[in-house]
Amino acid sequence: MWELSDRLKRLPPYLFAEIDRQKSELRRKKVKFIDLSIGDPDIGAPLGMLKILAAASGIKENQKYALDQGKDKFRKAIKKWFKKRFTVSLDEDKEILPLIGSKEGLVHFPLGVVNRGEYVIIPSPGYPGYRGAAFFAGAKVHEIGLLEKNDFLPDLSKIPVNVCNKAKLIYLNYPNNPTTSLAPLSFLKDLVKFCSKYGIILAYDNAYSEVYYDQKPHSILEVKGAKEVAVEFHSLSKTFCVTGLRVGWACGNQDLIKSLLKVKANIDSGIFGAIQEAAIWALEKEADYVSKLRKTIKDRRDYFVDSLRKSGFNNIYADSTFYVWTRIPADFKSSLDFSKYLISEKNIIATPGVGFGKHGEEFIRFALTVDKSKIKQVFKNKLI
Ligand SMILES: Cc1ncc(COP(=O)(O)O)c(C=O)c1O
Repeated sequence: MWELSDRLKRLPPYLFAEIDRQKSELRRKKVKFIDLSIGDPDIGAPLGMLKILAAASGIKENQKYALDQGKDKFRKAIKKWFKKRFTVSLDEDKEILPLIGSKEGLVHFPLGVVNRGEYVIIPSPGYPGYRGAAFFAGAKVHEIGLLEKNDFLPDLSKIPVNVCNKAKLIYLNYPNNPTTSLAPLSFLKDLVKFCSKYGIILAYDNAYSEVYYDQKPHSILEVKGAKEVAVEFHSLSKTFCVTGLRVGWACGNQDLIKSLLKVKANIDSGIFGAIQEAAIWALEKEADYVSKLRKTIKDRRDYFVDSLRKSGFNNIYADSTFYVWTRIPADFKSSLDFSKYLISEKNIIATPGVGFGKHGEEFIRFALTVDKSKIKQVFKNKLI
């Protein structure tokens, strides 16, 4: 009989796989619940994008293996969008690489640049994909705390020098999941300086670049010198509510892009051509859709935050993304405890902060990915 590899035996279950299990259990028991756990927007893709997807699916060329580097016109559309959005120029042949969703690129990236035993620095709390990525590359993980007192920005000066000297890669993500904080340009400049000083590669995850309220998020590539050290990851998932389509891109340093392309060429066979066509359409035509999306999420956020406050919650954060990050009430022992209470007493699924790392322990994350009538239901009865 075969056994799981030692590698897989050591890997803890993926956070959302565990939450999915809890949901299946509720469904099995026929319990109705409100799901505020996963960042999977409910709004639906732009209609025009879906029409292109359907039409392009019927074209024979799109049914064949896609090019690893994606269609030329897709990379050109990304280049154009990037220039307009961030005023950053990219070379579409060397500095842009389409991905099967940003998670795919984020997780494969270290395989091309990190050696076994080298340090990968990850944020805590942080998107769980980074830990898995470091794990598969055989790296040592060093967690840096995103603390409330520092506006959920890491204190780079607190990273031990021996870790800095041995670190190969750092992951950071703003607009931030789960804390919702944004990174000011001054921090991004310090970050590029820090990475240049220690020769650390920066994987900057900008999956939520378009999901904001008042302050427009930056690209790391706006910072002078960033192209020497950084690759930025983008996604259409959250901007166009198409998490199921699996499309995004990496852009930045050309040698790093080349390393990721080499890894991917050995693993996948590109993005379905029709999805690329739909993505081009979205990037070129859908500014209106995205501003409507922001309005809808803002309306949900304002109601949710106000209701949380009225329910007695303090320290509520909802500055960007479609998440709300808040301290758990004082009478609960842990974030897991509070999330279990929400499931069993209120039929509400939220994500315990500890699932994002130990520095998330005293927090809970709500994803505002249900419509307002459901959000109102959350507060129909006393929440705590
Ligand atoms: C911070 C962050 N990065 C990346 C992703 C992955 O997004 P996708 O693979 O759908 O592009 C997510 C998904 O929730 C995320 O929260």
